Amino acid sequence: MMGFELDDSLKTYNPGKESHRTVTWLKERPFRAAAVCLGVLCVVLLTGIIIVAGHHNHAAVEQPTPSCNLIGEQVQLGTRCNLTDLRREQTRNKNVTKERDQLRITCTNLIQEQDLLGTSNKYLTKEMNQLQTINNNLTQERDLLQTSNNNLSEEMYQLQTINNNLTQERDLLQTSNKNLTEAMYQLQTINNNVTLERDQLKELQRLSDGGGCLAGWQPHGASCYFLSAEKKSWNASRQDCQDKDADLVVIHSEEEQNFINNFCWSVWIGLHDMESESEWKWVDGSPMKLSLWHPGEPNNVGNEDCAELMPESKTWNDIPCSWERHWVCKSVKRN
Ligand code: BGC
Ligand code: CA
Repeated sequence: MMGFELDDSLKTYNPGKESHRTVTWLKERPFRAAAVCLGVLCVVLLTGIIIVAGHHNHAAVEQPTPSCNLIGEQVQLGTRCNLTDLRREQTRNKNVTKERDQLRITCTNLIQEQDLLGTSNKYLTKEMNQLQTINNNLTQERDLLQTSNNNLSEEMYQLQTINNNLTQERDLLQTSNKNLTEAMYQLQTINNNVTLERDQLKELQRLSDGGGCLAGWQPHGASCYFLSAEKKSWNASRQDCQDKDADLVVIHSEEEQNFINNFCWSVWIGLHDMESESEWKWVDGSPMKLSLWHPGEPNNVGNEDCAELMPESKTWNDIPCSWERHWVCKSVKRN
């Protein structure tokens, strides 16, 4: 750019004051002057281009260049479309194509995603229906349990009421039982006293009216005799006598035998051989001194181990101990 480089002398050029000196300078340096002129011309041209370009740009802003879009638009022939616009549209076309491809890929992905979501939605719907069914069943079960719970609660309250009543009744019975027990002890004490009193009176009566024997007993000699009104076996008869502090009668004399004969019934006497056959003993352990057996007796017909007194013959006979007879008890008088 030699033409744009001005000489220092040109920068200080002043035609008004230095006209004479300038003419002289041109005469002395003609080539250098031509170069300066050329430079000035270039500056002027450049300035013109800048001004024209500025005007053009200004016009482009105010009045847009007709469209040179090649995609989906009609190209208007005759329109001023310079190379820069063309390249810019190509670049734009390229970018739009690229964007379209990306949109296609995105669209494909979205379709796939939609399919997946559709499948997922199908399964979720199915699962939701199942959950709905389960929910309905659970709701029904809950209602049943609620009803059962209400019934049980009511039953519980009824049972509590019954329990309270029973508890109250029990307490009353316990109080009553306590009172009755106390009353029973008092009655037992009274009963003991009355029994004691009765026994004392009985003893007094026996001593005053019975000749030394209890009521129902007949005195004879130093003994008291009791004739039973009922019949029993030999062992049961003896037990009754022992319960009366006595025993079956033991006969040691004919005089005593005659006294018993007055009783008129066949009666058990305290004679047996149940311990050893034919060894007859009295219940007091004494041996048989007096023998008043009926002729031919004892004959032990069919195991006869106990003796009876027969009033008709006033003799003894052996018979089975299990047979039932009246019996005669004998006790000692107590004066
Ligand atoms: C007999 C007795 C016997 C009785 C019961 C009588 O005929 O003479 O000896 O004890 O029958 O068997
Ligand atoms: Ca006999």
